[in-house]
Amino acid sequence: MGSPNPNNELYCIIYSSTAWNDMLSDDIRMLAIRSSENNLDKNISGVLLYHDRTFFQVLEGHENDLHVLYDAIQQDKRHYGAFKLYEGSIKRRNFSNWGMALADIGAFSQDDADLFRSLVDAGPQLGDQSAMTSRIDRLIASFRKAVGAEGD
Ligand SMILES: Cc1cc2nc3c(=O)[nH]c(=O)nc-3n(C[C@H](O)[C@H](O)[C@H](O)COP(=O)(O)O)c2cc1C
Repeated sequence: MGSPNPNNELYCIIYSSTAWNDMLSDDIRMLAIRSSENNLDKNISGVLLYHDRTFFQVLEGHENDLHVLYDAIQQDKRHYGAFKLYEGSIKRRNFSNWGMALADIGAFSQDDADLFRSLVDAGPQLGDQSAMTSRIDRLIASFRKAVGAEGD
């Protein structure tokens, strides 16, 4: 390994959490718009998915900024039980055109929707992160497809 990760390196946090209540699609849209505005100011990008009271979010940006944002999101009273599926440095952004894109699970293939469910249901017991990487990569690819980021 080289030198310690400088805090301004490009970083990614992927987590899932549970909404306390069923949320209206309008509320989710407003949350994504508001998040997008805030995130663009901080050079943070990502994607948000809400389905059956489950939130799934990819956050990309500089490490310090992401830790600050993730801490704030965790305090948000609309959800609970956030657990990280992935955290680490990345070479390039997957959602560079969005402060916070909103993905619809309806745009996923059945296989990818099943993969999403299995990752989220495995929850905090996911264990070894390296074993997860290929599944996360596949999920990211379906998110990119769902929001039309494939060509970037
Ligand atoms: C699932 C979820 C994801 C969120 N994602 C973001 C985000 O990416 N960026 C953001 O600024 N706020 C996000 N929030 C909202 C923050 O928790 C917080 O309400 C917001 O940062 C406060 O900013 P405001 O005062 O501009 O509304 C999220 C909230 C939830 C429940």
